[in-house]
Formats: sequence, C-alpha cells, structure tokens
Amino acid sequence: VHEIARVKNLNRLQIGKHEVEAWYFSPYPVEYSHLPLIYICEFCLSYFPTPKMFSRHRQKCTLLHPPGNEIYRHEDISVFEIDGKRQLTWCRNLSLLSKCFLDHKTLYYDVQPFLYYIMTTRDDHGCHIIGYFSKEKESADSYNVACILTLPQHQRHGYGKLLIEFSYELSKREGKTGSPEKPLSDLGLLGYRAYWIETIVELLLTIPAGEDISVEEIAQKTSITPNDVQWTCQTFEMLKNYRNSHVIHLTDSIKERYEKTLKKRKRRIVPSALQWKPPS
Ligand code: COA
Ligand code: NA
Repeated sequence: VHEIARVKNLNRLQIGKHEVEAWYFSPYPVEYSHLPLIYICEFCLSYFPTPKMFSRHRQKCTLLHPPGNEIYRHEDISVFEIDGKRQLTWCRNLSLLSKCFLDHKTLYYDVQPFLYYIMTTRDDHGCHIIGYFSKEKESADSYNVACILTLPQHQRHGYGKLLIEFSYELSKREGKTGSPEKPLSDLGLLGYRAYWIETIVELLLTIPAGEDISVEEIAQKTSITPNDVQWTCQTFEMLKNYRNSHVIHLTDSIKERYEKTLKKRKRRIVPSALQWKPPS
C-alpha cells in the first residue's frame, strides 16, 4: 500500500529538548494539523497539542527508554529491539513521527510485521532516541532494513552510518547478506553509498598487496549484497577488466580519501557489545 503524497500538514515538533520543523505530511489526527507546535514525549512518543497537556503527561509518564530489550550497549550508545506486534502504540507513534521526515513510505498502522531497532544515547535522565531502523521479520527479498531515520536534530553526526553498520552486524549474525528496501530516498542513498565505500575500502586495506578478493568474498565478509558491492565498485571506478574478468582495484586517490574518512569515524559498532541472536 502506498500512501498518497499529501501536502505538508505540520509545522514544528518539540521532542525532548529539541525543536524541529516537519519535512513532509504525516497522518497525525486532523486536530493536530497546522498547530504552530506539537509536543512529543521523547520516551513514549505520544503527542500533545498544548504545553499544559504535555506537562500533565510528563508528570505521569514513567518510561525512560524505548519499551524493548536493550541488545547493545557501548559507551553512551544503547540499542533496543522492539517487536511491532507487542508494542503497537509505541511503534505507531514512532511511524507517525518518522513519516514527518520520510517522503515516500511507511505504513504507519502496519507495524506488526516489523522489528524496530532504536538507537539512543544514555545519560542520567534516560535513553534518548537518536534514530532507528525497522526490519521485516520475514523478508522475501532479503532486505535487512525497511525504514531508516536519524532524527533531524541528530543528522550529520555519523549516527546514520552507525545505524547502517548495526543493521549489517545483525545480518552477519544471521549469516546472510542484506540490502535496504528500495526505493531509497536521496539522503538514504547518500548514507548507504558512504557506508558501502568505506566498508569496502576498509576491508581492501587489510588484503596483502598482490592478493585478490572477489565481489562474493567482500559480500560474505561484510554482509553487503554482491549487487551492492558490485554497484559501489563500479560507481567508484574500482573494477578493472583483466583477462575477461573483473578485478577490484583500489586506486591511491580512493585509498587516501577513505583513510581520512575512516579515521574521522569516531563511533563504531563494537560487535562484542551486541547481545543478540537471530529470532528463531
Ligand atoms: N548532504 C550530503 N551528504 C549527506 C547528507 C546531506 N544532507 N546527509 C548525509 N550525507 C552523506 C554524507 O556522505 C555522510 O557522511 P559524511 O558526513 O562523513 O560526509 C553520510 O551520508 C552519512 O552521514 P551520517 O551523519 O552518518 O547520517 P545521518 O545521521 O545524517 O543519517 C539518514 C542519514 C539517511 C538516515 C538521514 O539523512 C535521514 O534520516 N533522512 C531522512 C529519512 C530518510 O530519507 N531515510 C532513508 C529512507 S530510504
Ligand atoms: Na531504507
């Protein structure tokens, strides 16, 4: 089911200590349309039309983290796994919120077939949502991400790449390759393209000079699908024809560019901090 694109109906949203502008239409109840500001509880994601109703709610709300299992903890980052079937309201609230920043998809009511992986930063006041991705419990097309979002106030700080890295870490545990659901948004493609090239270059840098690695081997080691590996190598002109087959070739300029980028990536997923087995 595709949602009919509709005119943006919301103005600003207050989430925790941040205030952000909505980007796209989201099917909040009509009474919420065109309010100057909607108040969103950063823990339960419920929404309120007035500061008074919001503060009344905050006095009662006891949630201090997303309502699921904490499956990852490293430094101040925690990730929670949430089953859409068990946390219907929370996940619908999440979908409503994320639709504000997603142009093309989300079945905001159809949350049951999905698991949600919520990335948070932890402090004395609780675990504050930064972003998330959803994942189909059973994907016929071997998608490992359905929707992915970094809340606008946290974008461009590397959390998108961290979420993507996390999604591939889950695929590694499953012993599978995976790919994000299509179509990707422009920002989604930029994020994935950046993650794919960095991950491939990082791996190629560990290959001794003179040795070859195939697209399939890269896919197997990174859980990025052979298609996405191939596409990335083509896009960055790393495939050379050699005796009728393709050889992956790391040019000096790509190497230099990505050695710098990789050094800048302060936050990484630490596999040993992930306490998770694929759901059986
Ligand atoms: N302009 C240009 N490049 C951008 C960009 C922008 N506005 N936003 C991200 N990128 C690229 C950059 O290459 C960036 O790496 P760099 O900062 O090292 O150059 C890379 O994407 C990843 O940036 P990062 O900070 O890790 O990602 P993010 O936290 O900003 O999240 C998305 C990326 C896609 C999750 C985020 O933009 C988002 O939530 N967008 C709205 C929802 C959406 O479109 N989701 C995808 C649905 S398919
Ligand atoms: Na996606």
